[in-house]
Amino acid sequence: MLSTAKYKTLDAERIRQDFPILKRKVNNVPLIYFDNGATSQKPEQVINAITTYYQNFNANIHRGVHALSREATEAFEQARKTIADYFNVQNDQQLIFTAGTTDSLNIIAGGLGRSILKPGDEILLSSYEHHSNILPWQIWAEDHQGVIKAIPLKKNQSLDYDKIEDLITTKTKLISITHVSNTLGLVTDLEKIKEIAKKHNLIVVVDGAQSVPHMKVDLKELDVDFFVCSAHKMYGPTGTGLLYMSEKWLKKLPVSKPGGGTIKTVSFSKAEYAEGALRFEPGTPNIEGVIGFAEAVKYIQKIGIDSIHHHESELVNYAQDKLTQIPEVEVYGLSSEKAGVISFNVKKQHPFDVGTLLDKFGIAVRTGHHCTQPLMEILGVPGTVRISFGMYNTKAEVDFFIEKLRKTISMLQ
Ligand code: ALA
Repeated sequence: MLSTAKYKTLDAERIRQDFPILKRKVNNVPLIYFDNGATSQKPEQVINAITTYYQNFNANIHRGVHALSREATEAFEQARKTIADYFNVQNDQQLIFTAGTTDSLNIIAGGLGRSILKPGDEILLSSYEHHSNILPWQIWAEDHQGVIKAIPLKKNQSLDYDKIEDLITTKTKLISITHVSNTLGLVTDLEKIKEIAKKHNLIVVVDGAQSVPHMKVDLKELDVDFFVCSAHKMYGPTGTGLLYMSEKWLKKLPVSKPGGGTIKTVSFSKAEYAEGALRFEPGTPNIEGVIGFAEAVKYIQKIGIDSIHHHESELVNYAQDKLTQIPEVEVYGLSSEKAGVISFNVKKQHPFDVGTLLDKFGIAVRTGHHCTQPLMEILGVPGTVRISFGMYNTKAEVDFFIEKLRKTISMLQ
């Protein structure tokens, strides 16, 4: 999807200079990193922010009166403000720092499952959900006789929105759906989802792990109950993520992951929990991760998310076009409106073999089921080869990849 927003064409060659890892070789050839859907690389600015923290003001936060603790707390809370501004969230307390998308989804499912969802309730997921957005709901369903229904896909693997109404009953309480399929790169029409949810009074949970690296997300405008994402897919550190919740849920969501720092008072018989973000942030958080996350957001802001979006959309369409010209290749979820990701297979070849040979040419791709086994079952394949782009990838890299893919195909036959 090429954005119509105003953007500056980004200079990928210039951006590459900020990412030290892109200078290294793999198997004696320059690295081509096409596994950004799994995790993106980190710019020097993020790496330096983490080093600066450890070299200058490492201390635990929200706990100490000493100078280092005050400085660390200030940097942590400033990071919350920076990230809240970026996502257009006025009350930064609505942004809870977690270990990542998976952790965030577990906190939501755990909290709603305690008293909001009732035994026998039904929830909707999409057929292209990642395991992280299936398993926490399954645990709840197993314990509460809950029912999980998956929205089917059309033949072209896009979501069949027309079938959603057929799945909804009076017991349906929630829809939890990915913004972008991590395997297919297809973008969910959240406006349509919200419209249906509003009509049936459903809670809406959006997994933004694969959308935030590629497109602008304005949480005020999106206006859903919950939105989650990870820092490490958007040029920040691993082990850090975000759980956004609406003001209503900030007050109402039961705590499912309690611990030090989440409370006002505790006795052996009961606890009164804190208000705001701290209520959901038990234990010592990933302080370096949060500081690095804010730096990654600043880096994205400097380049411009619309510029990134446009650049990556061009790469996706360029690569998809070239892939579809290779007769031995089957591309899944063909669409010109993909967010940074393409999945394909070489007919009659196992994706691992393709990935292993591409690695010999220095090309990093992901192979396998991509933590979407139900989708693999629908596609009727054990796995796929997935290429996923970041802002530093180039058309020259796509050309090299296509040349080596053709070579790989001839070697395998
Ligand atoms: N969820 C990540 C991926 O799609 C790890 O690769």
